[in-house]
Amino acid sequence: MIRFNKYEHKKILIFISDFIRKISKGDRLASISNRVGSLIQREAKNKKKKITVLDFGCGSMEISKKIQHKKFIKKIIGLDVFDGNYKYKKLQYFKYKNFNNLKKFKSDVVILVDVLHHMGVDKSYLVLKKLSQNSNAIIIKDHFEHGFFSRQLLRFVDFYANFAYGVTIPKKYFDISSWKKTVKKTKLKENYFENNFQQHVGLFNFILHKKHHFISVLKK
Ligand SMILES: C[S@@+](CC[C@H](N)C(=O)[O-])C[C@H]1O[C@@H](n2cnc3c(N)ncnc32)[C@H](O)[C@@H]1O
Repeated sequence: MIRFNKYEHKKILIFISDFIRKISKGDRLASISNRVGSLIQREAKNKKKKITVLDFGCGSMEISKKIQHKKFIKKIIGLDVFDGNYKYKKLQYFKYKNFNNLKKFKSDVVILVDVLHHMGVDKSYLVLKKLSQNSNAIIIKDHFEHGFFSRQLLRFVDFYANFAYGVTIPKKYFDISSWKKTVKKTKLKENYFENNFQQHVGLFNFILHKKHHFISVLKK
């Protein structure tokens, strides 16, 4: 996955890491985009209309690229901190500046896939509250840590996955209790919660067991 031109010189690192993922079944995109896609479809059915999605912290929009062709998707807006230029029929990319410019990006559903822990788990409720002001539902995929060793493992995997892109590696992750406290602080309702989400199979599932992945849907 090549992200932005700025990272051209790291192509070889990205190629090696993608190759290792491929041979050891470490591709996370298929499982995440399937689950996130079906949760968006549920929203489309409830609303009886096509859905506009905001992919917040979209990276290279790999998840969005996979779900954009679904017939229940009207358009997907990607926001991230990089300069980027994507030209797809249903995808638009914008550089994220701050909370104040979120008003411009109204959507039916926000997706936050492995983003919140990079923004800081303690501040996450503020991000969620702000995003909920311009959307009806927020779909979150994130990590749970289970003690010291598990935290270091998540940090190592995050380093491995993000080292070529200059993304900050978190000092800590959610656990079930801090996640439930975060939800409470947002004053949103948790409409769906999936613990032990099976993101990987094969070697990558052995290294990072499904107990480290959860999915949640928050609604007003
Ligand atoms: C692990 S990547 C996930 C990318 C994408 N969502 C995916 O699942 O493929 C985390 C992303 O969060 C973005 N991010 C981190 N802090 C952010 C912030 N304050 N505002 C917007 N995006 C942020 C990073 O730039 C990075 O692209």
